[in-house]
Amino acid sequence: MCGIICYCGHKQAVPILIEGLKRLEYRGYDSAGFSIVDKGKNKIVKAKGRVSRLEEKKIGLAMNSTFGIAHTRWATHGKPSEINAHPQTDCANKISVVHNGIIENYLELKKELEEKGHRFKSETDTEVIPHLIEENFDGDLEVAVLKSVERLRGTFGIAVLHADIDHQIIIVKRGSPIIVGVGKNEYFAASDSNALAPFTNKMIYLSDDEMAVLNTSGYYIKNLKNELLEKKIEVLDASEYKIDKRGFEHYMLKEIFEQPESVQNAYRGRLIESEGVSKLGGLEPVINRLKNINKLIIVSCGTSYYAGLLGRYIFENLTELNIETELASEFRYRRLKLDENVAVLAISQSGETADTLAAIKEAKRKGALLLGIVNTVGTSIAQITDAGVYNHAGPEIGVASTKIYTSQLVILTLMALLIGRYQHISFSEGSEIINALTGLPGQIREILSNAKDIKEIALKYSKYRGFLYIGRLYNYPTAMEGALKLKEISYIHAEGYPAGEMKHGPISLIDKNFPTVAIAPDDLTLDKMVSNMQEIKARNGKILSITNSATQKVLGISDDTIIVPKTIPILQPILNIIPLQLFAYYIANERGCDIDKPRNLAKSVTVE
Ligand code: G6P
Repeated sequence: MCGIICYCGHKQAVPILIEGLKRLEYRGYDSAGFSIVDKGKNKIVKAKGRVSRLEEKKIGLAMNSTFGIAHTRWATHGKPSEINAHPQTDCANKISVVHNGIIENYLELKKELEEKGHRFKSETDTEVIPHLIEENFDGDLEVAVLKSVERLRGTFGIAVLHADIDHQIIIVKRGSPIIVGVGKNEYFAASDSNALAPFTNKMIYLSDDEMAVLNTSGYYIKNLKNELLEKKIEVLDASEYKIDKRGFEHYMLKEIFEQPESVQNAYRGRLIESEGVSKLGGLEPVINRLKNINKLIIVSCGTSYYAGLLGRYIFENLTELNIETELASEFRYRRLKLDENVAVLAISQSGETADTLAAIKEAKRKGALLLGIVNTVGTSIAQITDAGVYNHAGPEIGVASTKIYTSQLVILTLMALLIGRYQHISFSEGSEIINALTGLPGQIREILSNAKDIKEIALKYSKYRGFLYIGRLYNYPTAMEGALKLKEISYIHAEGYPAGEMKHGPISLIDKNFPTVAIAPDDLTLDKMVSNMQEIKARNGKILSITNSATQKVLGISDDTIIVPKTIPILQPILNIIPLQLFAYYIANERGCDIDKPRNLAKSVTVE
C-alpha cells in the first residue's frame, strides 16, 4: 500500500504522475517511485521519503514518455527503502508493477519462481507479481496478467506496464480500490479519485475481480473470466472529490471510519474455518516453543497498553496461560523472574516506542521468548522480537490511536485462539469466535452509519469540564481507552475506572456537573453495572451509557444511550469503543482543538 496513479495519453507523463502522487500524500507513505517507457526502455525512478525527493531525482531524465505508472508506498513487507519502493520489476526490467494490498501467498510463489530461475531484488510481497507475469508472458500482456492474478491470494489493486508494448497499462482490482479516469484521448488510473481531480472528473469504479486495459485509443473493462463488461462512467462534481478525499476534516475521523477494513485486514487470511482455529504465519517459527510456555507478559504503552489490558482478559478466557499486562515503562525496572517458559509480548503501533523497546530488551537478556504485534514493518520492535504479527492496518496519522487499537484487539484474539486450540478450547468454541470475528466489519459499519446521532449526543456534553468512564471486566479497558481518547484530543479531564472501584474514591466527584460514561453491555456484569449507575443517579450525576441491548435496566437510568450491535463478550469492546472514539472526536472538534496533532503529544515516542 498506499497510493497509485497511472497515465496513458499524449502529454508528458512525469509531471502528471508527480502531481497525482502529491495528491495522494495525505494517506501517509514512506517512499515513492514511478516507471515510464521511453523508446522501448523502462525508466524507473524511486526515492525513500517524500515525493519532493522523487521530483528532485527525476531532474535530468529525458521526459518524452507519455505513459507510466507511479506509487507511494507505506511499508508492509520489507522496510522503507528504494529497493522496496514500487514499481517492482521482473528479471528483464521490462515489466513494472505497482500494488496496493497484500499478497498472502507470496512466499510460496517466490519459492516456486526462484526455482524457475527468477532473481528477486526486494523484500516485498509485490515483487512476485512482475516475475509471475514474466513467467506467463508470451507476447500478450493481457493474457499474462490474467494468468498471473489467478495465482494470487490476498488483496490487490495493481497497475502493470511492459516496455515492449507501447501505451498499454493494465489495472486489476481485488479488495484494494483502483479506478479508471477518462480524459480526452488520454486515460488515467488511480487508487482514489482525488489523485485525478486536476485531470478529469469522469471516473469508472472497478469492482473486485475486474480489470481495465488502457491505451491511447481507449479502454476496455473485463472480468477475470475474460468477458467484456459495460461499466458506467461517473461524473464527479467538486464536492464528491471532497468525499473521495474522504471528506473527512481530520485523519482521526478518517481512521475511525477505516475500521471495518482495518479490522478485516487484521484477520484476513488468518482463519482456518474448517478447523476453528487461526493461522499466524509470523508465529510459525516459534510455535513449538509457544506451546510450552506457561506465562505471558504483555508490555506496551498508551493505547497499546489498553489493548494489552484487554488482551489479558482475552488470553485468560481462551488459554490456560498465566497472564500479566504491564506498562512497558514500569516493567523494565521490576525484578521479574523470566525464563524460556515465559513469553513477553510487545504491542506497538509505531514499533519504535522507547519504553516498549527497553522493556523487551530487558526481557531478552533474561531469556524470555519475545513476541510482537506491530503495525509498522521493519521497525526496531519488529526486528528485535523472535516472532510476531503485523497489523496490516495501513498508516495511522492521527496522534490519538483508533483503528490500530481495534486491530490490535483482533490480533490478540487470533493469538489467544491459536494457543487456546492447543489447550482447552473446542472446535465449536473456536468456530463461534471465528464467526463473531468475521461479523465485526459489518457491525462496525452499522455503528458508523449512526455517527450523526453520536455527534448530537457529543455536542450536548461538550461543555463539561470532567468525565468519569466506568466499565467492568472486558469493558474496564474500554473505559480506560475511552477516557484516554477524550483527554488526549479535547484536553478535558477524563478518568477511566473499573466500575466496582468507583465507590472507593471517584464517587466523591459525582454531581450534576460531572457526567459518567457507563459501558454497560448485556453480559454477566450487567446487574452490577446497573447498581453502580443507580449510585450515580442517586447523586444527580448525568449518565451516557453504551450498551448492546435496549433493556430498560440501562435505558431507564441513562440520560442518553448509544446502542451498538451485539457480539460475543470478548469481542464486544471492539464495538463499544467506536462510539467513544466518535464522542471524543466530536467534542474536541466542537472545542476547536487541533485533533490530529494534540498539544504536547507525539505519534511515536522515542524517548524514555
Ligand atoms: C504515544 C501515542 C499513543 C500511543 C503510544 C504508544 O503516546 O500518542 O497514541 O498509543 O505512544 O505507541 P505505540 O506506537 O507503541 O503503540
